[in-house]
Amino acid sequence: MNQRTVIVLAAGQGKRMKSDVPKVLHPLLGRSLVGHVLAATAALRATRTAVVVGHGAAQVTAHLAEVAPAATTVTQQEQNGTGHAVRVALGALPPLTGTVVVLNGDTPLLRAETVADLVATHEAAGAAATVLTAEVADPHGLGRILRRPDGALDSIVEERDATDAQRAVREINSGLYAFDAAHLGPMLGKLTSQNDQGEEYLTDVLGLLAAAGEQVAAYRAPDATDVLGCNDRAQLADLRARMRDRVNHAWLTSGVTLLDPATTWIDVTVTLGRDAVVEAQTQLYGQTHVGAGARVGPDTTLVDTVVGERAALVRTHATGAEVGDEVSVGPYAYLRPGSVLGRRSKVGTFVETKNARLGEGAKVPHLSYVGDATIGEYTNIGAATVFVNYDGVAKHHTVIGRHARTGADNMFVAPVRVGDGAYTAAGSVITADVPPGALGVSRAAQRNIDGWVARRRPGTAAADAADLARAGTGPEADPATGGGPAQGADPTAE
Ligand code: UD1
Ligand code: CA
Repeated sequence: MNQRTVIVLAAGQGKRMKSDVPKVLHPLLGRSLVGHVLAATAALRATRTAVVVGHGAAQVTAHLAEVAPAATTVTQQEQNGTGHAVRVALGALPPLTGTVVVLNGDTPLLRAETVADLVATHEAAGAAATVLTAEVADPHGLGRILRRPDGALDSIVEERDATDAQRAVREINSGLYAFDAAHLGPMLGKLTSQNDQGEEYLTDVLGLLAAAGEQVAAYRAPDATDVLGCNDRAQLADLRARMRDRVNHAWLTSGVTLLDPATTWIDVTVTLGRDAVVEAQTQLYGQTHVGAGARVGPDTTLVDTVVGERAALVRTHATGAEVGDEVSVGPYAYLRPGSVLGRRSKVGTFVETKNARLGEGAKVPHLSYVGDATIGEYTNIGAATVFVNYDGVAKHHTVIGRHARTGADNMFVAPVRVGDGAYTAAGSVITADVPPGALGVSRAAQRNIDGWVARRRPGTAAADAADLARAGTGPEADPATGGGPAQGADPTAE
């Protein structure tokens, strides 16, 4: 196989983004712009990938170290044009042979197939250079492809250097090229800066090669959306919507149901199992996986979260959580990192979990915070429970055993343990361990002070209501018994 080198141009500032973040680092459904471009070249199995950096070089270099550690970065101190950028790259690399593929760092919709087709066409023809072109409705701002009467490529002219007649051409330069290394270096040396921008244009290499009688091919992209660039945030939003449609279409044809694709955003890094259902207004990000037959949404955001088979997450926000098979979450749940929910467990309405393990079938149904806790299998946590995990200095862990039943409105002040099969009474603040099978209670006995309202709040609506109730003539009076205090109202009755 031919030796291949990939050079990605990413030194530009991206002025029109009006951002402190270098343009190529802006995110788009799971990868940065340059991350998408690099992913599209992965199948080329290039011997070397170089990224030309300049503006925001430190940020771009740090990002590449994370997402493409094998790539070399080459710094272009002054941005004197795309031709200059490639010249700087060649100067920094060992002598090249074979095919040199050059791409812009800001065309994230470029597909691997398109890059592979361009390179295959180029290598099969043995051309000196091959450029990917596209026929577009609005060529504004892009380089135009000028062809000779016989259809062969003559040259590429930038819009600002073009005549009116040349501007009428709708076949544009995508910025993706394959070069024969033997021709590229020498021609880069012949570039001048005699153009409107005073820059060395890489596009001129193709014109020079054609003029020298070398074979220069233009390969037209079957789908023009592949080569859409990103220069401002409006274009970025447009590219994101197109990428969303592309990703969603791929899942819809792979056995996944999306109830409202227009409001469903799935990163390219996410995976979904067969018969998974994604409801409206749902975002699946990062290393998220949704298991077969699971249902997520509506109004759900999952970041780096693994969802088991046949689980259901409704109106849930989860980050770094692991949700087992057949688990039920929400509506209105917040799963934070380290939440591990065992098979068939439940995290219900208005519940927040963090660094918390629920055993199989364990339930936290309502209004609770579960932080730094281990809850055993088939245990039920009462409504409005707080795992008090932080003493203002350090975090502590609470362990609740299996088949335990804790009362409503409990505080578990960590570190504390509740044994297997233990109960706790409603309203308890549990600060000491509860042995297996015991009932933990920690609350003052109730005391009723009779007649307090009549004495201390006379003349109020409450006092009037109490009078009527005691006289047996209030609206609650039961005609069958002639009124009087309701049964069971005696606080000492058990
Ligand atoms: C370039 C092409 C144009 C094509 C368009 C496609 C040239 C002269 N023009 O125009 O024909 O239609 O791409 O999007 O090549 N860069 C550097 N160093 C530099 C200059 C640019 O690394 O000194 C990088 C930029 O970061 C960017 C890429 O090269 O990723 C393209 O540069 P840009 O200035 O956007 O070129 P265009 O004017 O869009
Ligand atoms: Ca551009």
